Amino acid sequence: MDNAAERRALVASLMARPASIAPKYFYDRLGCALYGAICELPEYYPTRTERGIFEAYRPAIAAAIGRGGQFVDLGAGACCKAEGWLPFVEPARYLAVDIAREAIARALARLEPEFPSVELAGIVADFTNGLDLEADLDGRPVTFFYPGSSIGNFTPDEAGAFLARVRAHCRPRPGSGLLIGVDTKKDVAKLVPAYADPTGVTAAFNRNVLNHVNRVLGSDFRPAEWSHVGLYDPGHGRIEMHLEAISPQSVRIDGALRAFDRGERIHTENSYKYAPEEFERLLRGAGFERLRRWTDDAGAFAVFHAS
Ligand code: AVJ
Repeated sequence: MDNAAERRALVASLMARPASIAPKYFYDRLGCALYGAICELPEYYPTRTERGIFEAYRPAIAAAIGRGGQFVDLGAGACCKAEGWLPFVEPARYLAVDIAREAIARALARLEPEFPSVELAGIVADFTNGLDLEADLDGRPVTFFYPGSSIGNFTPDEAGAFLARVRAHCRPRPGSGLLIGVDTKKDVAKLVPAYADPTGVTAAFNRNVLNHVNRVLGSDFRPAEWSHVGLYDPGHGRIEMHLEAISPQSVRIDGALRAFDRGERIHTENSYKYAPEEFERLLRGAGFERLRRWTDDAGAFAVFHAS
């Protein structure tokens, strides 16, 4: 999608009822920093639980991946998670894919002296609208790395289609696979505080999406007039985040005025949670045949290798 089409899609999503903003707009410079802070919150267990699984099972997981291929980091950000894998996987090529151009440029500059024998490349792309890396890959086996339960931003149908695209890149390259982290369904008493933390970091992350939208569209949202909502919908098996108007608002968007009633919400994110068996069905449905799974003792998070 080009910039004009992206702007149009964003305007349309704000004019719609209910209004929504795609979660990719969280990740401007401040948003990336706030997401980093979220990962340090005591309530936000996914990042540290995944890290614990990686650290406990690194050799076994690396053995499932194999050495000398291409390591494709989907949503690389600061590349910190991949950094832990490179010494174990020793890929010939590391491809960092992200929408945040600056973040991957900075990260690759940092990795370069550390991994002189790995060919490093950055790809600025929004793969949430369809994954096509054929032109960027050579014939060697490829491992797709999709950690952090980012797959949860897709609906299950979209996730299935996305996984099928990953599988399509793997199929012609024997020895290829996917290493993916998935947040599991669990007690709401543990789920909800991870997205509605008492420190207000997630609230700031959510409100900051309006700063980013204002820069993209030249709109005049006032972040202080919106309150953070983070809830669990057990029917959909997903966390939802919304921004709720504290007072009636009139926002200038693309030359038009969009009125919001007091209490009206803008839907900013879904974060789907999967029972391990549910996610394995999704992987098999996408064409993966060999599945391996690692979890923490409490089963709060699951890591899969699929090939
Ligand atoms: C980056 C999509 C994995 O869903 O947990 C964290 C984003 N939103 N807190 C998630 C997020 C609010 C995160 N993902």
